[in-house]
Amino acid sequence: MMTKEEARERIAALSSALEQHNYNYYILAKPTISDYEFDMMLEELARLEREFPEFLSPSSPTQRVGGDITKEFKSVKHRYPMLSLSNSYSKEDIEDFINRIKKSVDGEVEFCCELKFDGLSISLQYENGILTRAVTRGDGVQGDDVTTNVKTIRTVPLKLHGDYPPFFEMRGEIVMPFESFDKLNEQRIEAGDDLFANPRNAAAGTLKLQDSKEVARRRLDNYCYYMMMDDLEERYQTHYESLQAARQWGFNISNYMALCKSVEEIFDFINYWDVKRHELPFAIDGIVLKVNNYEQQQTLGFTAKSPKWAIAYKFKAEEVETELQSVDFQVGRHGTITPVANLSPVLLAGTTVKRATLNNEDFIRQFDLHYGDTVTVVKGGEIIPKIIGVNFDKRQQGAEPVVFTKVCPVCGTELIQNEGEAAWYCPNSQSCPPQVKGRIEHFISRKAMNIESLGEGKIEFLYDAGLIKNVADLYDLTYDKLFGLSNDKVSFKEKTAQNIIDALEKSKSVPFERVLFALGIRNVGEVTAKTIVAEYHDIDAIMKASVEELSAINTVGEVIAISVKAFFENPVNLSIVERLRAAGLQFAKAEAPASDKPQLLAGKTFVVSGVFTNYSRDGIKQAIESYGGKNASSISSKTDYVLAGDKMGPEKRKKAESLGVPIISEADFEKMIGGEDATQEKTSETKAENEQLSLF
Ligand code: IVH
Repeated sequence: MMTKEEARERIAALSSALEQHNYNYYILAKPTISDYEFDMMLEELARLEREFPEFLSPSSPTQRVGGDITKEFKSVKHRYPMLSLSNSYSKEDIEDFINRIKKSVDGEVEFCCELKFDGLSISLQYENGILTRAVTRGDGVQGDDVTTNVKTIRTVPLKLHGDYPPFFEMRGEIVMPFESFDKLNEQRIEAGDDLFANPRNAAAGTLKLQDSKEVARRRLDNYCYYMMMDDLEERYQTHYESLQAARQWGFNISNYMALCKSVEEIFDFINYWDVKRHELPFAIDGIVLKVNNYEQQQTLGFTAKSPKWAIAYKFKAEEVETELQSVDFQVGRHGTITPVANLSPVLLAGTTVKRATLNNEDFIRQFDLHYGDTVTVVKGGEIIPKIIGVNFDKRQQGAEPVVFTKVCPVCGTELIQNEGEAAWYCPNSQSCPPQVKGRIEHFISRKAMNIESLGEGKIEFLYDAGLIKNVADLYDLTYDKLFGLSNDKVSFKEKTAQNIIDALEKSKSVPFERVLFALGIRNVGEVTAKTIVAEYHDIDAIMKASVEELSAINTVGEVIAISVKAFFENPVNLSIVERLRAAGLQFAKAEAPASDKPQLLAGKTFVVSGVFTNYSRDGIKQAIESYGGKNASSISSKTDYVLAGDKMGPEKRKKAESLGVPIISEADFEKMIGGEDATQEKTSETKAENEQLSLF
């Protein structure tokens, strides 16, 4: 039995890890653990909270539906909340579920067994037979209005036929069939873009595209599995019946459903699909069981998170054995070396896996990897494949151990390692090709200079052709230099060349903070660049600042300050900055337009955390600034207030409490600014701002 103190610590650790995984999953669409691992952690947390209810926090991951909202589409409230399903992994779990149900309802119980589509849930609203609104799940209470994009999906009926009700909602899943997924990734290889790890991420990325034409091209699909309306049970007695009716009206309803009465029948269905799923044209990650009868469903009701009348059975994360053929050592833009395994191609959870990350030298040592080893690779259907073990019995005699390179695989320079770090670096930052190209790619990226018409493929071409060796060379490009260039991957036709020149010209008005970020100074991300620019008016002032002065800026620690100083002490960087300045880029802060708001928050520094009701995250930060306040990204003794929304992380709370920084709510904040209403239109935001692994 755990002591109270141990339980408190474990609950805090699990809660913060789950928050992070939730964020990775719902916002970044790049989970780093499998659903199974996540659910096991969640279960442990729920169990501890039951044992030690005094540590159950209202913001615990067990208390919420999960999810968050994404960018640029209008955020709208769901008419009926979009709940999730509780998960199960074994026959015992299913037996428990059935027994629970049988105890609570009268009469025989019939279960509708369905495929659990591995995509994104969608709510489709129909008025008088016309699709009026399509909304993503978001946080379950409100989601993004993606109607324009959803309308391009062929399996979503725009107009119904038959005796449909005048107002109702259909819930379903948007999926990307394997065929569309493979085609999309092939095109991305050609364009030199990052690949999507799996069909669900690809569907998520597609649904968030601004250009609905591109959405149409990518060929998504939709399957509907649940009808919602007032008095539904007066029209139909069972869920199955409602879906058959919906099929008549034009909805895409799966043919693969079965009505079962016993655990045996249910398990026949589950076992059949656990094998046959590999023949489906789209991904499923389990089976859903629903009590078929509506009256019984009503008796059972809901928890805050999910219906008590339904459960998902999740298939085991798949693993396969395959051969480790070779190891590539990739060089990042800061010179970090990442080992990547090349595997004998193997089918895993519906996609072909050829590569897996090996993280760093310690990882290779931990598995004592040898070339030709038979390794076990897992992928929970959505995560990036990873090696979880080596079959030593199959190791060939005389197999060579994988040795972490000590010289840069591209430029041959001897690698260096910083004390206490597992990573190795190539120090040849100025002429090691992947570092140079990586920096140029970073410079043109959306959050930096946003030179959209230049992609990875074109940068590679121009670099190889000797036309660009650093970011300043971009501004020496002319239409005449570009037009007519081509190889088998890219070609600079009239329009392409002109677009690039136009985009370069346009980038000259990109604000200073983004230019500073674009320079690619180690440890200086988007937020830090903004923080530095808030303190220093122009690049000359930053260059002159000492490490002490820079580290004195709230949230800029010594590590960042040293990186900044080192960058500007390098004569090569200085000459690039001078050339960029001469080209006309912004190296000074634009005078902020005077705010028309009373400067009620002058001199106060805020750290914003969580999700807000009346503002997007950027919106509330803008409000702080327009009332004279400052934003910082992490809590320190210099923070005046932590502005906490819903789902604020427990670690942040702990830090604020330990430093005695007051934590205020959205309502407190609105009072502070004189009870003004939110001026921002409610938009959601993408938080996928971190550098992401670009292996697949
Ligand atoms: S029913 C009230 N049926 O699984 C709950 N959901 O893990 C309504 N899903 O959010 C959901 N296939 O996105 C239902 N046949 C199916 C499903 C299904 C996939 C998804 C759905 C849900 C998630 C829960």
